[in-house]
Amino acid sequence: MRCAVSLLLLLSLLSLSHGYREPGEEADWCDYEQCKLPDCRCSDTDIPGGLPVHQIPQIVMVSFDDAVQDRWKADVGNVLSDHKNPNGCPLGATFFASHEYTSYQTVEEYYSKGYEIASHSISHTPYQDWWKNANETQWHDEIIGMQTIIHEFANIPTDDIQGMRAPLLQTAGDTTYKMMTNNNLKYDSTMPTRRFTDPPLWPYTLDYKESKDCQIEPCPVESWPGAWINVAGLTLFMKEIVDKDDVWIINVGQAIEWIQKPTKLSSIFNFAPWSCEAKPPARCTQAQAKWCRYVLDDGQERYMQTCNEKCPPNYPWVGNPKGE
Ligand SMILES: *[C@@H]1O[C@H](CO)[C@@H](O)[C@H](O)[C@H]1NC(C)=O
Repeated sequence: MRCAVSLLLLLSLLSLSHGYREPGEEADWCDYEQCKLPDCRCSDTDIPGGLPVHQIPQIVMVSFDDAVQDRWKADVGNVLSDHKNPNGCPLGATFFASHEYTSYQTVEEYYSKGYEIASHSISHTPYQDWWKNANETQWHDEIIGMQTIIHEFANIPTDDIQGMRAPLLQTAGDTTYKMMTNNNLKYDSTMPTRRFTDPPLWPYTLDYKESKDCQIEPCPVESWPGAWINVAGLTLFMKEIVDKDDVWIINVGQAIEWIQKPTKLSSIFNFAPWSCEAKPPARCTQAQAKWCRYVLDDGQERYMQTCNEKCPPNYPWVGNPKGE
């Protein structure tokens, strides 16, 4: 199974409802009078809140895609546990999880350690055209279906699974963002840019037209108020950036919270979304987790690990995320 480990400096984000644009209307050029934080942001390179550059934290978002597996724990642990953020909290990361070969015990443990879990679809179907042409129902069944699976088998509150990334970085443009808006996902972190790398685009919302280049067609042209977009960007090496006192390595959700409420370095230790409040421990250890075994129609086997007391009767899949 692929485990693309990407260390991304993420440039921009997607947000949630406020309502001076109707969802699905053709998006206008961004109106700086109307579009204000915390729920709307034009796509540009201006520092949120107009803060001076020396008063803002340097934000680095780390993300991992695809199956979340126990055997990564050592690697992920080595990268992330060797360092701390300036406030003493562990470094953050977002796991964009797809279903097959994911251990939901591991997911539960990661959530308990403070990492963010987001949806990367159930099937991770490897055909670009499939995602490009999928309709809203299909997007829903894949992305929200994965949110349901994570909630069901890793016991994570649905409200805490607020982000998505499309497989192969292929969205269906407006169809994808319509699905996102209709299901209250807060952000998407899919679309790449080549034009805005230095300085990068900050996360923005889809209330208005994007100023970003469209690298993978189609890109949204309609207005999706409050949908935050986090543009995936350049790769950095952890060791070059950690241990500087203004560098913060955080998850995507935390970065969007800072953009919604730009906070100066001088007050940053009191910025609640970046504190490390203890999460409940995972319900079981790796050794205690159940291995649920399934034989698929073609004879292949799948195992699914969970701390749930019972295995669902069927392998959870698109259209039947609870495996009923
Ligand atoms: C979406 O596509 C699926 C598969 O082709 C189809 O069965 C379904 O009717 C479509 N739904 C809508 C709302 O178009």
